[in-house]
This record gives sequence, C-alpha cells and structure tokens, in this order.
Amino acid sequence: MTTKLTVLATGGTIAGIAGSAIAHDYRAGEIGIEEYLERVGGLGLEAELSGTQIANIDSADIGPAVWHPLHAAALAALNDEDCHGVIVTHGTDTLEETAFLLDLTLPATKPVVVVGAMRPADAVGYDGLRNFANAVRVASDAQAAGRGVLVVMGDRVFAARDVYKVRTRGTEAFRGFPRESVGLVTPASLEWFGAPWRSGTEAAFGWPETLPEVVIVYAHAGLDGAGVARQVAEGTRGVVLAGVGEGNMPENARQELVRLAARGVPVVRASRADEGLVDREPEDDANGFVAARALNPQKARILLQLLLAGGTSDPAAIQRAFDGR
Ligand code: SIN
Repeated sequence: MTTKLTVLATGGTIAGIAGSAIAHDYRAGEIGIEEYLERVGGLGLEAELSGTQIANIDSADIGPAVWHPLHAAALAALNDEDCHGVIVTHGTDTLEETAFLLDLTLPATKPVVVVGAMRPADAVGYDGLRNFANAVRVASDAQAAGRGVLVVMGDRVFAARDVYKVRTRGTEAFRGFPRESVGLVTPASLEWFGAPWRSGTEAAFGWPETLPEVVIVYAHAGLDGAGVARQVAEGTRGVVLAGVGEGNMPENARQELVRLAARGVPVVRASRADEGLVDREPEDDANGFVAARALNPQKARILLQLLLAGGTSDPAAIQRAFDGR
C-alpha cells in the first residue's frame, strides 16, 4: 500500500532563497509548496505527497492567524481516511511553539511531524532536503502515531513537549529537555527510543476561538516592580516569568507579581536557563504562583493561553495542568 502524506507548508528557511549558494542573507518563505514537492520528487521518497500552502512567511510572524488554518487543515487530514500522516514545514525560530500548540490540540491518531531547515534551499549544504526526507520516513511509520506531534531536525526525532532551539546557526540547532530525543532517523532508517506514550489519545484541548493575551516577563539582575508593571499592560490575562535560575526573581519584582496574582492574573514561574526545571516551592501557595515544571517560558505561555481560553484561571487547577505535562 502506498503511504499518502499531507504536507502543510508555512514557509521558513526550508522554503527560503538566498540568490547565491554562499550568501549569508536570505529571504525565508519564498518557494511555494508545489515547487517544493517538485524539488523533493527527485529523491525517490517512498510516499505519495500532496501539499497545501497555509502561509509562506518567516516564522517570527507566525501566530493565531496562521495557527488557526494550520490546525484546521491538520485536523481535516487526520480525519481523512486516505491520509496516513501529516508533515508541517515551518521556520525554525518559532517551530517549538507551533509544534507544542498542535501537540496539545490534535489527537494522537496518525503521525504529525514538524520539520524545518537552518540553511536556505539554494545554499551549499542545504539541510532542508535531508530533514524533509527524514520527516517522510517518520511520518510514514505507524509507530510515530502514538507519540503526539514530533519534530525532525538534524537526524533526530524530538517530542514537541521537549524540543527547543539552542543555536542560531549550524544544522544541529535543536535539543530536547527533559528527554533529549525520542528517536534517530536517516532517509533510510528509523530507530525509536522506547514505546509510544500516547497511542490513540484525544486532544488535551479543543481548538480555542481566541488565544488570551499572556506576556512573558524576562527576569534579570536589577528588575524591579516598575519594570514588571511596564511589561504587563491593562487587560493582560496571564504572566509567564522567564525567571533567573529555578524560576526566581528580585524581591521588588516578586512583590509586583504577587499583586498581579492577587488581582486574578495567573503568574507561572519558568526559567530563562536552557534546561530549566522549575519545581513548586513552599512560598508558591502564599504568592499564588504556579511552577512551570519542565516547560520553557514560550511553551508555558502556550499552555497557559489554552487553559485561560478554556476558562481555567485558578492557580491550583493551572498547576495541575502543568504537573500533567
Ligand atoms: C524562520 O524561522 O522562518 C526563519 C529561520 C529559520 O527557518 O531557520
């Protein structure tokens, strides 16, 4: 049986063009999905690919306006009995946020793989073809289905919850935390580390009509209450602190965040450190804070937005949701 995969294209460097094989500057999101599929047609991939252009932009500009049609198209593909898996092509800069959002809002019934590239398509050493061939290998594998949304970069397979971008250059730009990677892939082989963990499960969240405004406050030496207040505009529904160390903050900043929490604006403590596990501390109860656990600030923001959109604003209920991730 031929494996049929749906490719949903959003742009990024994987579809980028520099106009020269050695130039540093380039434009992300230039090659359309039809042309891209023609280019990969010569690789001899063992799958039938059909493409849809959702957007063709730099992923710095990805947000609800693109997430909405992307989610709808991915869900439609998962419900189509003629489709065996979904590949999303995406810029690498915000790839982890889109992957995590889809992971929380799609059922784990078929493989969903997000893939990008660090070098534009006409650059010497373009990594996009290999990453795409690897993504086809993963999306064609029945065992990928029970692992939620996966990210394929640099011959490794990451879970959406774990993956984050660690480098601005070079093809080994992604890492996973707390699980490093969940598999190794080449265009010819795929090796999983362990069994699927969410086979057949429904989406954790329904797709929200809107995503409430949640800001990330970046902690630094010298941050004070006024510095926090300047970043939290009227109408902000939630705050994620990119805290120092294990989600910590200067005392004056803490007092302002306690005031916000007391006014019913949930405050989630994450860490600005790379591998920033933030556990609950005894003072969190008194402060009204939530601990982000292993989620980095940008992923904690996505989870908090979904919780608020679903009507969950009580810190204890928010904490339970973070504990369950
Ligand atoms: C982008 O995120 O769209 C540009 C950078 C990249 O894809 O690597």
